Amino acid sequence: MTTTAEHTTVAPADSTADLAADSTADAPLRVAVIIGSNREGRFGPVIADWFLSRVRAHADFEVDLVDVAEAELPTSFRQTPDAESALATITPKLAAADAFVVLTPEFNHSFPASLKNLVDWHYGEWQAKPVAFVSYGGMSGGLRAVEQLRQVFAELHAVTVRDTVSFHNAGAHFDDSGRHRDPAQADAAAKTMLDQLHWWARALRDAKAVHPYGA
Ligand SMILES: Cc1cc2nc3c(=O)[nH]c(=O)nc-3n(C[C@H](O)[C@H](O)[C@H](O)COP(=O)(O)O)c2cc1C
Repeated sequence: MTTTAEHTTVAPADSTADLAADSTADAPLRVAVIIGSNREGRFGPVIADWFLSRVRAHADFEVDLVDVAEAELPTSFRQTPDAESALATITPKLAAADAFVVLTPEFNHSFPASLKNLVDWHYGEWQAKPVAFVSYGGMSGGLRAVEQLRQVFAELHAVTVRDTVSFHNAGAHFDDSGRHRDPAQADAAAKTMLDQLHWWARALRDAKAVHPYGA
């Protein structure tokens, strides 16, 4: 396993009913954790469960989970009733977020099409916000997917966090019940990443309150 990253905190949101962004300086920072794979039999939820436990261990964040498998966004960019219904659930979570953590596997040296579809359906929701990554896969640990995602998010005026958490041969690190077998290194990497994400999220939110981002 490879690691690098910084910290954040979470108190999972029980409801998405009131997702209006609160930019007041003392409001909790809100992070949207995005599961990027919608593959049948996917390993992503195991990674997500471990990571959500890490976010809760830091407590400066409120968390929303965005799962591309549940989103069911169409791949054609047409405002059909199905698209509008899917967006009505997802877009408010992205808009309310002060920061994002993208959980991405690597598919053929890149990130999943399902993740790119979610990204491309949105624009301003990403803008002037930090994005961190937890990656996993085979030998590469998803690092090539992450490096490509940095280019995508730069185009969207987002700021990507330097440090990441990366799982090589991800399945080998977790037991059958989804527990990490030897979590010290991964936990430390998650804290590093969350700490960086928190710094960027607070700095950008404070800056935008004084100088709205004009792209
Ligand atoms: C179509 C496909 C392509 C893959 N390509 C790569 C790859 O290029 N590099 C890698 O390290 N792992 C690769 N893998 C392994 C996946 O990253 C690994 O199975 C991961 O668990 C997939 O995430 P998921 O289970 O959440 O869908 C590939 C898997 C699939 C299904």
